[in-house]
Amino acid sequence: MSVTMEYLLLVNAVLLPFQYIHCANITQVERLSADLFDSYNRKLFPLINHNDSVRVSATVGIMGINNFDELTGEIELALVFYMQWIDERLKWTPSDYGGKSTLLVPSEDIWRPQFYVMQSFDKIQEVGNMSILARVHYSGTIYWNTGNVLKLLCSVDVTYFPFDTQYCEITVVGWVYSNDEIMFYTTANTLNQDLLSSNSQWKINSATVRNNTNRENPPSINMMLTLERRSNFFVVYLIIPVVFLGSINNLVFAMPASSGERMSVAITTFLSFVVYMEMINDNVPKSSSPVAYIYYYMLFLMIYSSAIIFLCIISLRIQANDGEVPKFVKQVTTYLRFWYLKRRRKTSDISQLHVSVMSDGQLPELETKPTHEDTTSAPVSDIVPEVTWKEVGKTYDRYCFVTLSLTFWIKSIYTFSSLYNNHGI
Ligand SMILES: *[C@@H]1O[C@H](CO)[C@@H](O)[C@H](O)[C@H]1NC(C)=O
Ligand SMILES: *[C@@H]1O[C@H](CO)[C@@H](O)[C@H](O)[C@H]1NC(C)=O
Ligand SMILES: *[C@@H]1O[C@H](CO)[C@@H](O)[C@H](O)[C@H]1NC(C)=O
Repeated sequence: MSVTMEYLLLVNAVLLPFQYIHCANITQVERLSADLFDSYNRKLFPLINHNDSVRVSATVGIMGINNFDELTGEIELALVFYMQWIDERLKWTPSDYGGKSTLLVPSEDIWRPQFYVMQSFDKIQEVGNMSILARVHYSGTIYWNTGNVLKLLCSVDVTYFPFDTQYCEITVVGWVYSNDEIMFYTTANTLNQDLLSSNSQWKINSATVRNNTNRENPPSINMMLTLERRSNFFVVYLIIPVVFLGSINNLVFAMPASSGERMSVAITTFLSFVVYMEMINDNVPKSSSPVAYIYYYMLFLMIYSSAIIFLCIISLRIQANDGEVPKFVKQVTTYLRFWYLKRRRKTSDISQLHVSVMSDGQLPELETKPTHEDTTSAPVSDIVPEVTWKEVGKTYDRYCFVTLSLTFWIKSIYTFSSLYNNHGI
């Protein structure tokens, strides 16, 4: 806070559009001050003709995003306001006062416009700080370069966390005035970012400033800040680990059932997802409308991991069976393992061989191709393994593995590409 204020005073000195003139002496400056302020009433508008309106212009700069708490929607911004207006009572001729052309005065001694920030977080905040001096130019122009560290409320939308973009609106309004009394406008259409110190979590995508064009509303200017989250941290800390964990989760189907470790691996992975869910909870607001899509993805992972546990139990159950495999299960397994293709190919090989032998009427071909000899004599049951419960279990494991892997990768790639491109899932 104090650093900010010092900075402001520095800015105050540096950015003024004219130079100091040091030829006036103390008596002349005292006389100037007395002439200007002896009959000055700071409660009244700085006008001679009170049918006119005071034109107040402001250029706004942003110095930093000090803090952004997405859980509560509180954002703390350090803003600097370069305000300017004309006080018609504070005009003089420099040559009458030893060439003194500007005067620094405490801003509480002169009339200054009162503006408030609409989106204030805990208390109504006035723009500017009374303890910052204002500079009066002999033409009557007042330069007041002031600033605030504002605590604002910003509506947070974390649908696409961690690739989300937040929009914060800041309205500076002089709600005690009517549009006839004050004309408040901005000269630049973007926030000045020359003094911006970068934030490690957010970067400013755009920062626009608009005049209020609606004459019904009190004089105000409107700022729109677009903040993009720097997502690298979350990619490294959440997304990559979760995706890796998910991709190895269904490797339990590649483990030998006899090792007896399958269930413990499956359950450990399930619990790891729970831990990651907690980590996401700490960073994402628990809003129900909208729910962050990453929660749906975590829900998918929970279901996926539970399904693995469930299917794994069935697999162990199958492999623990003994006795005769029912005919139906045998047939299904044969189809799923494509053994029927093998059998058909072997059968057609054999019939072709018979045909060629018969047409030639002799057997040299058989001697040159001993492999054919082998296959012809080998019974079909040697080529195609016997369907046991173990084979049924293996077939089941393979299919579980392939199906779950496909589901997982399709869902993951789809989710993260959608999040990255910020479009719906
Ligand atoms: C200040 O300057 C004026 C005009 O040059 C002169 O009359 C006056 O004596 C000076 N006052 C002091 C304190 O030097
Ligand atoms: C104005 O600045 C002073 C320090 O220079 C600080 O103590 C005070 O709280 C500020 N007032 C407002 C309204 O920000
Ligand atoms: C706001 O209005 C003033 C005066 O009409 C004009 O000079 C200025 O360019 C406007 N600013 C923007 C950002 O449109």
